[in-house]
Amino acid sequence: MLDIITLGDEFLREKTDRIIDFGSEIAVLADAMIDTMRSERGLGLAGPQVGVLKRIFVLELPEEGFSRVFINPEIIETSQELSSYEEGCLSIPGMYSDVIRPARVTVQAQDTKGKPFTINAEGMLARVIQHENDHLHGVLFIDRLDEDRRERVLKAYKKREKRSKS
Ligand code: NI
Repeated sequence: MLDIITLGDEFLREKTDRIIDFGSEIAVLADAMIDTMRSERGLGLAGPQVGVLKRIFVLELPEEGFSRVFINPEIIETSQELSSYEEGCLSIPGMYSDVIRPARVTVQAQDTKGKPFTINAEGMLARVIQHENDHLHGVLFIDRLDEDRRERVLKAYKKREKRSKS
């Protein structure tokens, strides 16, 4: 299992590199990320969250029976229509807030063998793709909240951290 980096660690703010070598290491990494995501009951997990500054994320929506590894993803289209839904993040444990994002996206990515694919996503899938893709650019869901809500989440998080340390 991989350790998950949490808020405050600068790793979460770093830029990531494209993956060019599709050797077996990348499949091993993806498997470890999937195991970690499942054991933490997350819907997605991105490289920087486990200390890997590479463009990879995994996601799994058990209810929709959808599981996929995204390498070098690019969101090439977003809908004008927006939607608001509650998000959380394994790197900001215990915190949830409604985030406004485009309702639909088209994403291009590669699988662990380097094979390209394109997905037109809506609903929860579109949301998780955008959340995980943000991680590859050093962006967290709290960055997408208005200032008041962000402050509230950060305050609650600090309180929670203090409690868990004492
Ligand atoms: Ni996250």
